[in-house]
Amino acid sequence: KTVGLIGCPFSGGQSKNGVQNGPVRLVEYGLIEQLAEMNWKVEFSNQDHLQSLEPKDDPDIGKLKRPRYVSEVTRNVAQVVQDHVKKGNLALTLGGDHSLAMGTVFGTFSVHPDAVLIWIDAHADINTPETTESGNIHGCPVSFLMGIAGNVPGFEWLKPVLKSDRLVYIGLRDIDQPEKNILREHKIAAYSMHEVDKYGIGKVVEMALDRVNPKRDRPIHLSFDVDALDPSVAPSTGTPVRGGLTFREGHYICEAIHETGLLVAVDLMEVNPSLDDIDDVSVFETVTVGCSLVRCALGETLL
Ligand code: ARG
Ligand code: MN
Ligand code: MN
Ligand code: MN
Repeated sequence: KTVGLIGCPFSGGQSKNGVQNGPVRLVEYGLIEQLAEMNWKVEFSNQDHLQSLEPKDDPDIGKLKRPRYVSEVTRNVAQVVQDHVKKGNLALTLGGDHSLAMGTVFGTFSVHPDAVLIWIDAHADINTPETTESGNIHGCPVSFLMGIAGNVPGFEWLKPVLKSDRLVYIGLRDIDQPEKNILREHKIAAYSMHEVDKYGIGKVVEMALDRVNPKRDRPIHLSFDVDALDPSVAPSTGTPVRGGLTFREGHYICEAIHETGLLVAVDLMEVNPSLDDIDDVSVFETVTVGCSLVRCALGETLL
């Protein structure tokens, strides 16, 4: 078993500095050795050239910030993910901000059009260029993947690959009103923190899989935004929202999805080890929990 570990030092999908340092910190902490220890063959590539793709001039398109930069970077990432998935490697992408999922999910679905996307996040990241208030594209990748973002110049390569019944969310708690409308209109499966409290995480993961993968026969792409976890567990991220998943709930999701045997790609996004005003302990906790989520998704068990 081989994992293609793809480091993506990219922060252009949002406006805070530091998230580009996520991958190098996760690797410094020992992620590669930890996966090797679990008998994975690790093919690591750090995509440092991504930062050189930043155009000199990248004016807003409508409200969207840095659209050309995001498009170029995600187009490159899509190719790398696609190459790994095609070879049968598990594609494991370390962000960087969550706009990168435009590339990772596109890469997976271009090899496995029948795949499903499980999105673990405090946010739905399904704003369109029309509905986004922030203009930050990390709040929009899902709408682009579904083909409901309209025609944004530069994103012609990103063909809609994601159908509304192949997507499920867990952990939501900060959804903009227009995003709520989109979720309802497209009948997208979503389990917010309310459902996690009501049913417990075990039942929620089972319900989520029943909704999008009832026969347990479709390949799974897991996109995990570390801000799905409660800020007491993962404080070092750009858009923390209180009331999130506990340490165990986050890990349980990864373990349960691993157990399906269907996982073909994993993203770990939004670890920001160099925010202003953040202390070393918070950074350390966030990086270590990031590593352990990944290990669980790749088969680490408690017993
Ligand atoms: N909904 C907000 C926005 O559109 C926040 C998105 C946060 N996304 C993230 N990947 N952390 O800007
Ligand atoms: Mn988020
Ligand atoms: Mn909000
Ligand atoms: Mn996100």
